[in-house]
Amino acid sequence: MTAPLTMPLPELASQFNLRRDITFLNHGSFGSCPREVIAEYRRWQDELESEPVHFFGRRRLDLLEQARIKLGAFVNAHADDLVFVPNITYGMNIVINSLRFEKDDEILTTDHEYGAINNTWEYHLGRNGGKMVYAPIPIPMTTEADFVEHFWSHITPKTKAISISHITSATAMIFPIKEICRRARAAGIITVIDGAHVPGHIELDLTDLDADYYSANCHKWLCAPKGAGFLYSRRDMQARLEPLVVSWNLSRHHDNIPRYVNLFTNVGTNDPAPWLTVPTAIEFQRKHNWSAVRAACHALGSQTRMRIAELTGLPPVSDESQTWWNQMALCPVPTDERIDYNRLWNEFAIEVPIVAWNGHTFLRVAVQAYNTPTDMDRLIEAVKVLVKK
Ligand SMILES: Cc1ncc(COP(=O)(O)O)c(C=O)c1O
Repeated sequence: MTAPLTMPLPELASQFNLRRDITFLNHGSFGSCPREVIAEYRRWQDELESEPVHFFGRRRLDLLEQARIKLGAFVNAHADDLVFVPNITYGMNIVINSLRFEKDDEILTTDHEYGAINNTWEYHLGRNGGKMVYAPIPIPMTTEADFVEHFWSHITPKTKAISISHITSATAMIFPIKEICRRARAAGIITVIDGAHVPGHIELDLTDLDADYYSANCHKWLCAPKGAGFLYSRRDMQARLEPLVVSWNLSRHHDNIPRYVNLFTNVGTNDPAPWLTVPTAIEFQRKHNWSAVRAACHALGSQTRMRIAELTGLPPVSDESQTWWNQMALCPVPTDERIDYNRLWNEFAIEVPIVAWNGHTFLRVAVQAYNTPTDMDRLIEAVKVLVKK
């Protein structure tokens, strides 16, 4: 059973620094950090600045290892299979830059994927060989079994890798990637998973998923400071990875850290404070019973989806369960160029993304711990004004 909320959502809102004059419904793009997480981030920076040489020269690697161990416990992976990276784009670039394909090899993905990751694939395949195949995944979503069958029908003997989001950006869908990873392993196909929205948003068990490569952000739903991402690689797939940035990582080897960790950790001078703060973000969510927070956010998001559907008359993209979505409520709105959705920001001070995808228009309403029913009422009032005929 889910533990109860430690405090009602309106009180949790007081833990964040968000401006009160704005209705902030876009945690999916850039989330806000709780005050105490930011305080710890600044404390790390202060400690670094008090003796930078000692910090970088003698403490950094041990501190990062401790942070990787805490992250590993959170995502159920061995710490030595995880490296911190500034963001998931960086992590995916490491993988995509390293893999090599023949001219006719296919990398299967979907038409729900994040543009920057598609760009990365297209760029490298264009230089080195291989081509992307974008499986169309229609909405509304039905069952997970239907999804997997439909996606798998695009596998051919030429498919050498699968690149897929665990939670998509434009359509905010949770994809059933465990079964896809299982089938891919049996078929000898490499899996590369985009988990940008996953840590802190839904449970993540990397050992159970058994993907080859999984990169994610801690600076979205886990509420860690910006610049905290990670790349997980299965142990037997690590040797294929090449450095994205060449630095001391090729000539200085540390006895106490594996090649994989060294390759992506010793890449010039950077600020390790976001990574060192990841354990604090994990602890913040643990002590506030985050599964209960997430359930409360989902319930608020679900009410909002239904209220907006009443105004627009448009059908939902999935059912209201937590199978297909959790804290990003995707609300179809009319695709009508006479409706100026920019007014949501310009006139109503509502920060909510308006997404154009495959001929549809959506409001992607992110519901985080700091959001309240009043935020949703404001959104509904604004949508009423916009869509009024
Ligand atoms: C699905 C998905 N992948 C990748 C990214 C890129 O994240 P970042 O800019 O932190 O690398 C995003 C950003 O929102 C995303 O939604």
